[in-house]
Amino acid sequence: MDTSKIIEMTDEYCLPTYRRFPVAFVRGQGVKLYDPEGKEYLDFVAGLAVNTLGHAHPRLVEAISEQARNLIHTSNLYHIEPQARLARRLSNLSFGGKVFFCNSGAEANEAAIKLARLFGKKQGQRYEIITATNSFHGRTMITLTATGQSKFHKGFDPLPPGFVYVPFNDLTRLQETISDSTCAIMLEPIQGEGGVNVATIEYLKGVRELCDQKGLLLIFDEVQTGIGRTGKFFAYEHYGIVPDVITLAKGLGGGVPIGAMIADSEIASLLGPGTHASTFGGNFLATSAALVVLDVIEEDNLLQHVREVGTYLKNGLDRLAGKYPVIKEVRGKGLMMACELEQEGSSIVMECLQRGVLINCTMDKVLRFLPPLIVTVSDVDQMLDVLDGVFSCLK
Ligand SMILES: Cc1ncc(COP(=O)(O)O)c(C=O)c1O
Repeated sequence: MDTSKIIEMTDEYCLPTYRRFPVAFVRGQGVKLYDPEGKEYLDFVAGLAVNTLGHAHPRLVEAISEQARNLIHTSNLYHIEPQARLARRLSNLSFGGKVFFCNSGAEANEAAIKLARLFGKKQGQRYEIITATNSFHGRTMITLTATGQSKFHKGFDPLPPGFVYVPFNDLTRLQETISDSTCAIMLEPIQGEGGVNVATIEYLKGVRELCDQKGLLLIFDEVQTGIGRTGKFFAYEHYGIVPDVITLAKGLGGGVPIGAMIADSEIASLLGPGTHASTFGGNFLATSAALVVLDVIEEDNLLQHVREVGTYLKNGLDRLAGKYPVIKEVRGKGLMMACELEQEGSSIVMECLQRGVLINCTMDKVLRFLPPLIVTVSDVDQMLDVLDGVFSCLK
């Protein structure tokens, strides 16, 4: 099927929930994607921080194929060996907590919010969760309410109660907002959809202290920042503090849908039998895929690689910022990098697409770069050359 036919069928049969670019892909290899007409694209989006190992990574392909030949799904009525093994890996990589598996970031956050509510009830009638403005936590009713951006709330009211929003990186406002109803604080260590806003060390350390003083749960939404994206396995590791709950999805399965919530063991016991569940959560296929993603990150020393290539990318973007005043700021960590522009970025994304490079724009003016973790410096050079060419045409 050619691109125009795919677009035509999508328009006819799919809900119009997405503003899609006029391209479709039929094949991927490493950091490259190919459309039906054979045009090659360099992928600096990675399915929005999903394709950790790039496309068609042989280890991932082999693991999924072998697992599919054996067993894809049973049910959480029964024990699932790769689920147990993945839970052990995630527990050991984090703070030794217990893991609940689901299928997406929103579901992981949903689990964390349910856990926070049970935690709050145990301490009295606490139910309120403080989140940050410009945060993004998902699109289900409760996670879009947790999301501190009114544009996502519009039209869906009445929203479920129990969320308050405070400006990100503002410890004083957070402290003032904590009340007798507060049970948890939920933050992304680096806000992704909100424009790649990096939390300061003082802020997250201060938030941890406040949570300890007031007996609140600290939930880190690492759906986008986790699984090595920022050059540490979890972004919180840059900050010298540890949260009580972590949520994950996106990069965990390298493209196979999987979400996870890791919770401090004592708190995790609040979610006893019957309190929460997911039919597909932690199935054989998804957890086998995630185990291989973790193996490759470890065996190929990808965290070090992300730090090195991430620095190279940042330096290249800084050079462009020196050349083109339209770039207001370059920020991010590892391979979660962004350029905030003085103008809207959609035409730049479109121009890059036409020149065979996929990048993303969020919050209208923030160009975002989220390549697969296996991206090389020569891929970065290629992307920067194209971006340089596009910026030079703006002048
Ligand atoms: C930080 C964060 N949390 C949650 C989500 C929601 O994840 P999903 O789309 O898998 O439900 C996203 C998605 O962009 C995200 O970036």
